[in-house]
Amino acid sequence: MMADLYRGLERFSSLDREAILSWLRTAEPAELERLFVAADTVRRRAVGDEVHLRGLVEISNHCRRRCAYCGIRAPNRFLRRYRMTREEILAAAEEARAAGFGTLVLQSGEDPELTGPYVAGLVSEIKRRTGLAVTLSLGERGRDDLARWREAGADRYLLRFETSDTALYRRIHPAADPEGPDRFALLGTLRALGYEVGSGVMIGIPGQSYQSLADDILAFRKLDLDMIGVGPYLPHPQTPLGRKPGRFLLAEAEQVPNDADMTYRVLALVRLVCPFANLPSTTALATLANEEGRDLGLLRGANVVMPNLTPERYRSLYEIYPNKACLHETAEFLRDTLENRVNFLGRKIGTGPGSRKK
Ligand code: 5AD
Repeated sequence: MMADLYRGLERFSSLDREAILSWLRTAEPAELERLFVAADTVRRRAVGDEVHLRGLVEISNHCRRRCAYCGIRAPNRFLRRYRMTREEILAAAEEARAAGFGTLVLQSGEDPELTGPYVAGLVSEIKRRTGLAVTLSLGERGRDDLARWREAGADRYLLRFETSDTALYRRIHPAADPEGPDRFALLGTLRALGYEVGSGVMIGIPGQSYQSLADDILAFRKLDLDMIGVGPYLPHPQTPLGRKPGRFLLAEAEQVPNDADMTYRVLALVRLVCPFANLPSTTALATLANEEGRDLGLLRGANVVMPNLTPERYRSLYEIYPNKACLHETAEFLRDTLENRVNFLGRKIGTGPGSRKK
């Protein structure tokens, strides 16, 4: 039955570079509507109507890296740094379970004080106490740490490759270890260790061309990812890219805009080329286009939402970009408003861990 379904979807999942480029560039509203309807149809047939909730806890904003776009980069002196305690993280995990979420996501900057053994102990304690699926998103780490965390019970790992344009990637990501494995190699390691693997890109990074964005989408298919996160690039004033975008921007006909419209196109195309992947309607999109943006994301390919469970006193400090939509989310929003919205869209809140359907 899955094989039949797959044949039905193949028409889309075999989209080539030219077709992707023309969807990214079309100015015809009717054409775009066709794309969005196709994405919603494929979403329904491949992953159904469940919207899975992943409770996101931002456990530390310490970071040793200097990514040119990111507000928590090491050189940002204007940011107060925090690291949640073990007890605070365990309390957030209990909260996720109490709220009925199937998954807890632990995210942080590349913080060397989150050591291999410490995170392993944390993961096994969360699994023991809550039984939730655990997703880690702690940056580029060595194979030993990744293996240890997997053994401790971690189910999934998120590591966006950000752009498949290697020259642009290098310009905006000063390497911690120039000899070390690149992110594509790390994604392979994660897969070999038995993780469900997630990656993704930002949309509209200054210097990102339509061609490279089409290649990003093809790379998702080639990597056969379980989870794919895409959101608009949002400028942060305390970063090189936020301060001087002009040094990076391409000519207007080549430069991908960092707007909601382009984000919907990419979401829809990703759903077509990766029908079974779990795709969040991201916080970055909601930051740009509010609840309407989150809803439209869900109507144009997405099937996951990641509500923020970081304690209030830390939340504004995890400032990868300014004015994150989640700053205004309350416990009440998580329990009632979100469920009402999801139901209004003709969907239902997912139950269980919400692993990728294969
Ligand atoms: N705008 C949008 N997304 C950003 N990220 C980091 N900085 C920004 C920004 N300024 C994204 C990156 C990273 C994810 C956790 O957040 O894609 O992988």
